[in-house]
Amino acid sequence: MAPPADAPFLLACRNRAASRIPVWFMRQAGRSLPEYRQVRGKGSILDAVRDPDLATEITLQPVRRYGVDAAILYSDIVVPVASMGFGVDIAAGVGPVVERPFRDEADLDRLGAFDPEEACPWVQQTVRNLAVELGDVPLIGFAGAPFTVASYLVEGGPSRTLGKTKTLMLGRPDLWHRLLDRLADVAVAALRAQVEAGAAAVQLFDSWAGTLSPDVYERSVLPASAKVFAGIADLGVPDIHFGVTTGELLPLLAKAGAEVVGVDWRVPLDEARQRLGPDVAVQGNLDPAVCLAPWPAVEERARDVLARNGGRPGHIFNLGHGVLPETDPAVLERLVELVHGEPVVAR
Ligand code: CP3
Repeated sequence: MAPPADAPFLLACRNRAASRIPVWFMRQAGRSLPEYRQVRGKGSILDAVRDPDLATEITLQPVRRYGVDAAILYSDIVVPVASMGFGVDIAAGVGPVVERPFRDEADLDRLGAFDPEEACPWVQQTVRNLAVELGDVPLIGFAGAPFTVASYLVEGGPSRTLGKTKTLMLGRPDLWHRLLDRLADVAVAALRAQVEAGAAAVQLFDSWAGTLSPDVYERSVLPASAKVFAGIADLGVPDIHFGVTTGELLPLLAKAGAEVVGVDWRVPLDEARQRLGPDVAVQGNLDPAVCLAPWPAVEERARDVLARNGGRPGHIFNLGHGVLPETDPAVLERLVELVHGEPVVAR
């Protein structure tokens, strides 16, 4: 039931040559797909995630339509804290909202030990379903990195500046470290449960890490993310570390312990590889908004990404962030064809 070790996605994660350049898209399941809109139903995405049959179907939709090289579990980074009862929901068009945001020591008690079997058995059931349904296609499990999850818990919702988060980080470093340490344990438990249920790789989403300077990231965030990677190292599955506007942080994202670093479109891929060195694989990095343009422009930008990688092993083609809801699925279909048609250079 496990995908073969020579699946192109898994080989690329290991920085090894593969029979083709693997491609998948962050947020490949979701509002850009008519079949998603049809089955998703009303209510919070968290309700859909709690339904293993529905979550399985939604995860499979883009694999069927696009023939991508990996599936990503349909869930959300706030699922563990929400299922622990922290009082988190996801508002349509807004994102995660928190009833009583994290403020002080007493709130740590609301983040006790996280047992995935008890809190969210439906996630593991979805993963088990998918391990059967996907056959040779690897499933990517994921978790939110401590910093990005903390930012939602502290802000109470999406924020442009992360002012409250940075105030806590800089003003109460003791409490901050306890919060991040707790969230690292949550992420480790979530990822371990997903891998034990059949996920073949994992991605840690630290989407908002790029709001930090390198020195602050290294001091206040990296130790907790490193704890996550160390906590799953024995499982032996490839791990991907992703964030947005992380050009200045790329080497630190690798230093946290990941084999693959996600790169957004603001740094050209050749430059990213130079910053990361030859031992780190990369994932990215087409601007998602490019996919809204006419095909010739999409093709030109996609070929630029491929050319900048220059045929080196260890490249997983992806967007630099998630698929935008207004994206025409036909464009993503053609992108997969284009990437798969690219000759791989024997080395
Ligand atoms: O990539 C995938 O398709 C896998 C599933 C996935 C979702 N969220 C499903 C989802 C993953 C990996 C996430 C991660 C996630 N969630 C992140 C990190 C990645 C990133 O995008 O930077 C973050 C920051 C969140 C928090 C979150 N959840 C936001 C900001 C939103 C958007 C709110 C909105 O409605 O515009 C969500 C909701 C969400 N998560 C949707 C999906 C498919 C869309 C809502 C829906 O269909 O109801």
